[in-house]
Amino acid sequence: MQPNGNDDVQRVRDASDIVRVVGEHIELKARGREYLGICPFHDDKKPSMYVVPNKQIYHCFSCGAGGDIFTFVQDFHKMTFREALKFLADRAGVKLESRGRRRTANDDAESVSRSVLLEANELAERFFKSILRHAEHGQSARELIERRGISQEMVDAFNIGAAPDMWDGLRKFLESKQHNLEPFLNLGLLKASDKGQGPYDAQRNRLVFPIRDQIGRVVAFGGRRINDEDEPKYINSSESPVFDKSATLFGLDLANRAIQKEGVAVIAEGYTDVIACHQAGITNVVATLGTALTPKHATLLQRLCHTVVLLFDGDEAGQKAADRAAEVFLTLPIDAKIATLAGHTDAKDPDELLKREGGSGVLKAALDDATELLEYRIERLRARLTNAGAAQTERALRDEFRDLGRLGLASADKVRWQFIIRRLSELSGLNIDTVAELVREGANRRQGPDFSGAEAEPQKRKHRTSTAEILGCLLAMPERWIGLESNEALLEAACRGTELWPLFEVMKELAHSTGRTDLNATVDQLRQRDANHRFAVELEQDISRRHSESADQLNETLAFCLRNLQQHSTTVEAKPAGSTADRLEQIKAQKEAHGPNTRLLPRIRPVSGSQGPNS
Ligand code: GTP
Ligand code: MN
Repeated sequence: MQPNGNDDVQRVRDASDIVRVVGEHIELKARGREYLGICPFHDDKKPSMYVVPNKQIYHCFSCGAGGDIFTFVQDFHKMTFREALKFLADRAGVKLESRGRRRTANDDAESVSRSVLLEANELAERFFKSILRHAEHGQSARELIERRGISQEMVDAFNIGAAPDMWDGLRKFLESKQHNLEPFLNLGLLKASDKGQGPYDAQRNRLVFPIRDQIGRVVAFGGRRINDEDEPKYINSSESPVFDKSATLFGLDLANRAIQKEGVAVIAEGYTDVIACHQAGITNVVATLGTALTPKHATLLQRLCHTVVLLFDGDEAGQKAADRAAEVFLTLPIDAKIATLAGHTDAKDPDELLKREGGSGVLKAALDDATELLEYRIERLRARLTNAGAAQTERALRDEFRDLGRLGLASADKVRWQFIIRRLSELSGLNIDTVAELVREGANRRQGPDFSGAEAEPQKRKHRTSTAEILGCLLAMPERWIGLESNEALLEAACRGTELWPLFEVMKELAHSTGRTDLNATVDQLRQRDANHRFAVELEQDISRRHSESADQLNETLAFCLRNLQQHSTTVEAKPAGSTADRLEQIKAQKEAHGPNTRLLPRIRPVSGSQGPNS
């Protein structure tokens, strides 16, 4: 059997380390020989995802998500397998040899249209960049860059471009290259004319900032006016299948690493503030696209860091945002702080501040001075109540705590809940029980479902047939297939016509060609056949963990399941073979009689120091 058709997959896998790949997307903590993190594929607050370096796989014991580096990147970024392969190859500096664009069932219509839109954005980005360099059409934009003090390094890093002062600059360019205009209309880069004159450019005479997703794909553009008379100040691409404004942060692709390294993300208000901060060497800064921070933003950041600092130009914006931010942050395991420039400088925003002598020192001081969200709210309350009497103060505090309850504080997980309540008690001087009671009162008035204190139960382990257990054991002990001998035929008969068939077939072929049934090789082969490779990872992980990776115990289970298989195979074999339908009926009956009954399995002795979901 050809191992992979081409060995691109193997080379990319060899050049990548799953701990680093996953670790670039979510925070991982070492746990023995493995790593543990909060699973990004289901809504959770507790770490339930294992990354297993020696097997190069990950697996979430709560939602069952699992696979290898390719699966992770595909699922995290909603990529096709090809896109994931290319992304990981670029990341690891591996040059792909096979150019073939083999379409698989995973490359469904939606992802094809997404990739068309992403390609269109890439093309538009190249156009805007070439305009910025153009002697005539780029001149006013270059002057603006100069005036704003944006360095050439930042122009390159952010891929800043320019839209020419024309109605048909982009359109003519696309037409001259015979490009379909449709995707550009979908992206809002071209607008349909209502005078029947064909589409016209949406971005005209503007400095253009490409807006990228976390991994650097251009999903939209923000165009800033060059002439102050033009309205509006900014024109953004429209929302599209590749651009969700409420889930995108400007600069995240460049800030990603610094945010993870420092564990802190700073969220500024404007594009130019982000650029100025990066230019000043403060690189953990991103911006929302002119909107408030949403739960989607917070979820994105929660995978990268423990603290978010919301940096506001003025006090007023800060106060408004503090009200809204509570809603977003109270329930997520991420701390929020509020920093405002107002008390530190008269500069109107970070961009203006950083142009001044000593500006970056002042900005850093403002960031260091950031106040915890809850403290900020209580302080503000206190300030309003400076001359109030005891009764009024008490009432205001009660209202504040009820508000926090209504905003979702009561559905924070236990540890966070206790921490916050204790902090609120310190800040207000009321005792912990009183604070908790008031918050719960607020929660009861909250509309919609309330999850107070409830935490997601790990998914119950699925019942598996003895046959599935055998395949699982053989994945966990890749060299054991060869010892199966006559059992192979029995196993084959038991798998035929069931959901286990593709897995059996792949493992058998691998065993016969390589002598082993390695998990990664099995996963690759299943993926090539568009069969369910995640199931193989889940099965292997489930079995290995239950047996604490002990070879003795695995062998015991394998032997037990094989005996089980032999026993009812004889009863099945005794009957005439009959049609496929009969055979399927037999298998079904056989499974109902013996298969899924996990009580038949030997008791597993826990091994001390084992790491499983229940440890
Ligand atoms: P400069 O004035 O060039 O320094 O830009 P800025 O980023 O500081 O702009 P400002 O502080 O006025 O606005 C902050 C952010 O709000 C911008 O970066 C945009 O994301 C958004 N924004 C501002 N004005 C507009 C607008 O007219 N339309 C849209 N769609 N967004 C805007
Ligand atoms: Mn500004």
